[in-house]
Amino acid sequence: MTTFRDHLLAGKTAFVAGASSGINLQIATRLALAGASVTILSRSPDKIEAAAAGIRAKGAACIGIAQDVRDHDGVGLAFQRAAAEFGPIDIIVSGAAGNFVAPFNSISYNGFRAVIDIDLVGTYNVLRQGFPHLRTPGASVINISAPQSFHPYPMQAHVNAAKAGVDMLTRTLAIEWGSSGVRVNSIIPGPIADTEGMARLAPTPEAEAASARSVPLQRLGTKDEVADLAVFLVSDAARYITGAVMPVDGGLSLMGVGRVG
Ligand code: NAP
Ligand code: COA
Repeated sequence: MTTFRDHLLAGKTAFVAGASSGINLQIATRLALAGASVTILSRSPDKIEAAAAGIRAKGAACIGIAQDVRDHDGVGLAFQRAAAEFGPIDIIVSGAAGNFVAPFNSISYNGFRAVIDIDLVGTYNVLRQGFPHLRTPGASVINISAPQSFHPYPMQAHVNAAKAGVDMLTRTLAIEWGSSGVRVNSIIPGPIADTEGMARLAPTPEAEAASARSVPLQRLGTKDEVADLAVFLVSDAARYITGAVMPVDGGLSLMGVGRVG
């Protein structure tokens, strides 16, 4: 795990939704280590405060806000608090997500709605409420998507539909917000080791090994490898990149997925 510190994002502010654990927490940590002041948000007060304290313990500025991304007004209040604490926002990462494995005919109305509401409507809430607080021109938005957005994984109808919608939001807003000088991109992580997402999709060592074998580079990715791409995308080095849907997946996106059943 990268622990180096630099000044790439000194003076910047970031808001990372869904960052009490996993990939998004690592992204938030790396933005903080690069000098950004970071607000992180997720549902559980205990988890988000522990995550924020962990980032502060590295000497960075960070506050944690307990908020469900499904609550449109609550997300707005979270942005107000972030802007009051750290000033206008340069970077938004929207990555809150929910997943479970089930065939379409076993996904109840509430189950389908839960995933669509967290992943897709939650992204709408974060971007819609976040935009007025962005420092423009120059701000940068990253949506955390998934390979399900373009490969139809069986047992993942809800996630497939939600993440496809997230990437279409990325492309649409790259056009609409371009004249404001705001860049919008998606990151598509492949199978990432030591995450809740992998635990749900590949719950046994055998399933995890099979997942690694399905990747051209023959291994799972790391959270830091996803964070590397996030740091690049929000940096000045990516200043002409917008509307991109970028995999960091060891080549998985080149492969077909799936078998039926
Ligand atoms: P994770 O650790 O479970 O991260 C999900 C985060 O979202 C947690 O911080 C969770 O915290 C938060 N969250 C969930 N529902 C929320 C809600 N309604 N409102 C606010 N926050 C909410 O999972 P992960 O595996 O690292 O996944 C992170 C992102 O990467 C997701 O967008 C996922 O789709 C994407 N991804 C992961 C993989 C992988 O291999 N793991 C592959 C492709 C894409 P609380 O429970 O406290 O709310
Ligand atoms: N199979 C089928 N249905 C399931 C399910 C499963 N494994 N897990 C949950 N559901 C259904 C529930 O039964 C419920 O439907 P019902 O009311 O018709 O019974 C519905 O989904 C909502 O579940 P609930 O637990 O009330 O929702 P929630 O909002 O508290 O949680 C989830 C949302 C279900 C997505 C939960 O898994 C979650 O919070 N995930 C966040 C972490 C995560 O998924 N990380 C990986 C990111 S890739």
